[in-house]
Amino acid sequence: MSMAQKPAKNVSKDVFISELISKMTLEEKLGQLTLYTSDMSVTGPVMRDTYKQDIATGKCGNIFNAYTPEYTRKLQDLAMQSRLKIPLLFGYDVIHGHKTIFPIPLGESCSWDTLMMEESARIAAKEASADGLHWTYSPMVDISRDARWGRVSEGAGEDPTLGAAIARAKVKGYQGSSLKSKETVLSCVKHFALYGAPLSGRDYNTVDMSMSQMFNVYLPTYKAAVDAGAGSVMSSFNDINGVPATANRWLMNDLLRKQWGFKGFIVTDYTSINELVLHGVAANEYEAGVLALKAGIDMDMQGSVYYSFLTKALEKGEVKIEEINDAVTRILAAKWDLGLFENPYLYCDVKRAKSEIMTPAHLQTSEEIAKASVVLLKNKDNILPLKAGSKIAFIGPHVKNQRDLIGNWSGAGDYTKALSLWDALVQTGNASNYSYAMGANVTEDTTLIKKMYIQEFIDKRSKEVLLQEAIAVAKNAEIIVLALGESQGMSGEASSRTDIRIPENQRALMAEILKLGKPVVLMVSSGRPLDLSWEDTHAQAILANWFLGTRSGKALTDILFGNTNPSGKLTMCFPRNVGQVPIFYAEKSTGRPFDENIKYTTKYLDVANTPLYPFGYGLSYTNYAYSNLTLSNNQLKTGDKLKVSISVQNTGKMAGYEIVQLYVQDIVGSNTRPAKELKRFAKIYLNPGETKTIQFELHTDDLKYYNEQLEHLLEPGMFKIFVGRNSADLLEAGFELK
Ligand code: NOJ
Repeated sequence: MSMAQKPAKNVSKDVFISELISKMTLEEKLGQLTLYTSDMSVTGPVMRDTYKQDIATGKCGNIFNAYTPEYTRKLQDLAMQSRLKIPLLFGYDVIHGHKTIFPIPLGESCSWDTLMMEESARIAAKEASADGLHWTYSPMVDISRDARWGRVSEGAGEDPTLGAAIARAKVKGYQGSSLKSKETVLSCVKHFALYGAPLSGRDYNTVDMSMSQMFNVYLPTYKAAVDAGAGSVMSSFNDINGVPATANRWLMNDLLRKQWGFKGFIVTDYTSINELVLHGVAANEYEAGVLALKAGIDMDMQGSVYYSFLTKALEKGEVKIEEINDAVTRILAAKWDLGLFENPYLYCDVKRAKSEIMTPAHLQTSEEIAKASVVLLKNKDNILPLKAGSKIAFIGPHVKNQRDLIGNWSGAGDYTKALSLWDALVQTGNASNYSYAMGANVTEDTTLIKKMYIQEFIDKRSKEVLLQEAIAVAKNAEIIVLALGESQGMSGEASSRTDIRIPENQRALMAEILKLGKPVVLMVSSGRPLDLSWEDTHAQAILANWFLGTRSGKALTDILFGNTNPSGKLTMCFPRNVGQVPIFYAEKSTGRPFDENIKYTTKYLDVANTPLYPFGYGLSYTNYAYSNLTLSNNQLKTGDKLKVSISVQNTGKMAGYEIVQLYVQDIVGSNTRPAKELKRFAKIYLNPGETKTIQFELHTDDLKYYNEQLEHLLEPGMFKIFVGRNSADLLEAGFELK
């Protein structure tokens, strides 16, 4: 096969690209702005069956949902038949691993371990690139405080400081130190912007937000990813204060490009340009295309609007050729950075695909991260860890379930390779002590079952038969472990829920089991914070185990039996019920702060203001004592640094990791400020009896915030510092900024 426009030796990127552009027809340029899904795997509604001809004729320069070195080679061959032989860029949703699947991002974020999260991204990049891919639609860095929104599963929770640290780690992991390495992939930060704040928690819904909220809370994660060098950004589906992101010139050109200095390219989300018509900001697709290009959007995902309408828009003078050329330049620059002009087949290496995917080392890392992601929510009388010799009944739809283990957006992941809880129990060699019953299907809602495509996983026996089998098994056990929760398809895209409890039929099973009066340990699989109020009053122990990926079962058995001490801490509050949502720790005090005894203060009549489990919360099999919170200074001036130290002692009998958190409150400002904001955190390992003193360093820049006029203010006055184990259990000190 003849090679692409191979760069001559010593030619610079700029010269090469501008010369190439000078040879391109308008149609070829629009082809480079076009991204189509292949028919290998489809993540949206429309399929364009002519995509192969389009590649061969230069009408399509980018493909997603195609992988394996063999298949991408075939498609790349087609691109090499086109007149200018510009290599295709292959994108895919490699969200939490490619073939080796890691915990869903919300779960993984509960490890607070940015090095581990960088490592999981590095492995994902290695496997994806070995499988023919150049570009991942990750990380999703949308802050969300609304557990109804199904896509909280794909993000890192509610907090901008932690979210930004994770965003940086992910970009670093995917892109490494050079995109030219064939083991790295281009990262795509999404969904720019504010996709995690849809009204009512309903996916794709309107976003209406103050500028200060945007800049203080929702934008820092995208900015962090861009500062870390992310090569591309995806525009979000939603509108922002009246202007859809995909038509939002202020957002893309002014903020992202000019103010933040983003140099990469911007791709839409799936058919987002077409959707400008439905948003009601364009009368037709022609207008939509003009709006998007003018806003600074470079690549049209699946919508074909640029390809179909920009020629006419150019003729009519509604867009300029320079605007098209700029977009093409940015896309060709990414292809250059990936080394594709030198070798379009760089990532089509069958040998690599055979030897670098799902290696024992990758699986081991997946297992470590899975263990670090589990959050122990309750452990009355230290019922956990369990004793391997006890007679234990494992009951619930998640005991033998493999399908759900790899979670939603697991792309190329193969659930049949995931280790279930039951299979891992068998591997412990103690399974003769353990019994099993499914007890209930994950749901009985037939419409939901259809929507989630899980008909084949549904046990057709009646509810009563399943229940009786479970009761019989439970009667013979000393302890009952219930593995309940959501199915993976209950979270993710287009999976918002207004009832965020464990499905009713599973709660009915739990109620029947409780009647036996035996201790019950509850393991909860979910893609979001759930309302576990009822379960919390009845189960003796509760573990939040999300969807943990390929090595789920091993991670869970290690935690259940105490080979691993749980250390995860929540990155989103768990509400007491859905009526509290959106709920987050960084609330403001209001003019009528909560007071139990005064009626006219901010509260509900029927439920406390506090969440059931706060942000930053998670128990351990040991205990940690916090003491000696000291500040290096009680008075600071602008530019000063403040050292904050704290001693943490492991006062229990098991070694473990503790996640130490530092929050700040600006007590009086010209604007109201949150009662607490996370500024620093550290994960430390402590042997039994061991004490460590941790020192955090804050800078006065950490105390700045944006007001509505977007002034970045640093205001003198009193500040509080809090350090402790979670956002609701903290030691306190104070200082003054002069
Ligand atoms: C739609 C989703 O919103 C986005 O996250 C994803 O990357 C694209 N589809 C491509 O599959």
